[in-house]
Amino acid sequence: MTTIDRPRLARLIQRERASYLERHPRSHAAFRAALPHLLGGVPMTWMGKWSGGFPLHLERASGNRVVDLDGLSYVDFALGDTGAMAGHSPPAVIAALRERAERGLTTMLPTEDAAWVGAELARRFGLPLWSFTLTATDANRWALRLARMVTGRPRVLCFSYCYHGSVDETVAVRGPAGETLPRPGSVGPQVDPALTTRVAEWNDLASVERALAPGDVAVIITEPALTNIGIVLPEPGFLAGLRALADAAGTLLLLDETHTLSAGPGGMTGELGLAPDLLTIGKAIGGGIPTGAYGLSAAVAERIRAHRDADLVDVGGVGGTLAGNALAMAAMRATLGEVLTAEAFRRMTALALRFAEGVERTIAAHALPWSISRLGARAEYRFARPAPRNGSEAARAGDEALDEYLHLYLANRGVLITRFHNMALCCPATTAADVELHDELFAAAVGELCARG
Ligand SMILES: Cc1ncc(COP(=O)(O)O)c(C=O)c1O
Repeated sequence: MTTIDRPRLARLIQRERASYLERHPRSHAAFRAALPHLLGGVPMTWMGKWSGGFPLHLERASGNRVVDLDGLSYVDFALGDTGAMAGHSPPAVIAALRERAERGLTTMLPTEDAAWVGAELARRFGLPLWSFTLTATDANRWALRLARMVTGRPRVLCFSYCYHGSVDETVAVRGPAGETLPRPGSVGPQVDPALTTRVAEWNDLASVERALAPGDVAVIITEPALTNIGIVLPEPGFLAGLRALADAAGTLLLLDETHTLSAGPGGMTGELGLAPDLLTIGKAIGGGIPTGAYGLSAAVAERIRAHRDADLVDVGGVGGTLAGNALAMAAMRATLGEVLTAEAFRRMTALALRFAEGVERTIAAHALPWSISRLGARAEYRFARPAPRNGSEAARAGDEALDEYLHLYLANRGVLITRFHNMALCCPATTAADVELHDELFAAAVGELCARG
């Protein structure tokens, strides 16, 4: 196996940083102008996680193309880290938004779009009842509250290095003795996560069984494949085992399909016929407009209704003023009805397959100890071979210098991938030529890295 020549990598990063700075004077100036009044110089601190010292600033985006302030155009595989899975400003969504925007944005009144979207989510995911939020984080928070209420249990089980948004209970990892620790870098936790959470290891049913054994876990919250520490796929039998262990322990199973929607129109739940008690989703389903949703099984809904004292309509801890607003509902209806269709998923998935095959060819040609994992329309490379089996292994395979080099190399030549763990996603506007461009650039970047002398 080839080992990376670290001094060479450092030199290449310096070269790419210099080129990035030279190519983006206007983005750089905009960043510096924002520094006095924006925390970290950006409207949301994670936008600062960008190779080259400052982020590109957006001028416009359409389909799978982004144009920056310096007038440079990019093929976008980052797609707003899934928020733009439908492509940027898809015409059907823009038309629905225009039409809605002129007739009231948020009124505290339902629109007919809401029932259509609820029925469509039920058709795709198999859960009959839905409620809406502004983000996937909110959907998870509220679903956890409901799960605690109906089970009367205090704890949550999540997987090491999972990510479900800024949900306090899940910003946790598993310590060496199986204990719950705050995730490294966790910002001012509300309470010690050991009080709220047990952490198991992905693909390790024995660790799940141990965590459930005391009988105090309300709900297992997980993505059906981990997607926020690279993609870590479930091994055969793991998801069925989770379902069986949850049932045996009287614990609910919550699947977060926010990213795994990439697997198909009904996410992995639809593709694999999974049967969660609760399901959360967000990002992509609004076509770029903030939104989220949670779905409930009939049994869970019945148990919620039995809690007549629960204040679900005012200040009981589940709710948001703009949740379910008319604009977001119109965006979801157009996105699900006209853009992220079964046919679109077929094309997106075929392109992601080609993307992964191209990366695999380059990895093999250089005998690198890297791997690429794919989930439908989404693919990510990871610096470990075989691919990591769980979150802790995947975290150990992280390599900040390689991430930066590959991200910058591609960005300097007109291709964007997500800066978070180098995710690439295909949208309905992605073409085979876009995938080939990535292939060529990835091969060239790796070729320079592995060149002799
Ligand atoms: C699986 C999963 N759930 C929830 C979230 C949170 O989404 P949001 O930031 O829209 O609240 C994310 C964000 O990346 C996610 O990956």
